[in-house]
Amino acid sequence: MKIRLIAASAVAVFAFQLTLVNQVFSHGDVSPQAVDTEGLEPLGDEFLPENPYRLAGGEQYALAQEIGSSAYNSNCARCHGLEAISGGIAPDVRLLEDGEFGDEWFMERVRKGYSQNGAYKMPPFQELLSQEAMWAIRSYTETRPRPE
Ligand code: HEC
Repeated sequence: MKIRLIAASAVAVFAFQLTLVNQVFSHGDVSPQAVDTEGLEPLGDEFLPENPYRLAGGEQYALAQEIGSSAYNSNCARCHGLEAISGGIAPDVRLLEDGEFGDEWFMERVRKGYSQNGAYKMPPFQELLSQEAMWAIRSYTETRPRPE
């Protein structure tokens, strides 16, 4: 009896999570926001392995963070939380590793998204955002203070 109850509630929780994911996806699926990257060094078609604006430092890095802030908040915040503070729907992107290792993982996910059982939990941004915009977002999230 007890086991049945537990099984039933596990199914309920699972069903609830599915609904949540579907809702999140249908949200995430609509109207990506164009990002104006004027002023940032153009990067060409080849994807770079490491954040070029962090490597450039100075004004380029500062501008990348500024552009990344609005690009993040209009494209990613609905799942990853305003100002990169996760509310629990999706991972906290402030916790990614620093440097090239974190950069690679970031780009992999942002370009290709993430799907499970044929449904996207995170849409791929490859066709939606320029490489410049992606690195601008990385510049923003990697400089947000980490949680305690
Ligand atoms: C529709 C919701 C949704 C949107 C919009 C979204 N993501 Fe995600 N993202 C997710 C989910 C869910 C995961 C967890 C996938 C997994 O289990 O690895 C994820 C994973 C990630 C990861 C890997 C995190 C880790 O700790 O491994 C990164 C980086 C990331 N997202 C960045 C972004 C960026 C940048 C944007 C905006 C350009 C964005 N996401 C937009 C839902 C979303």
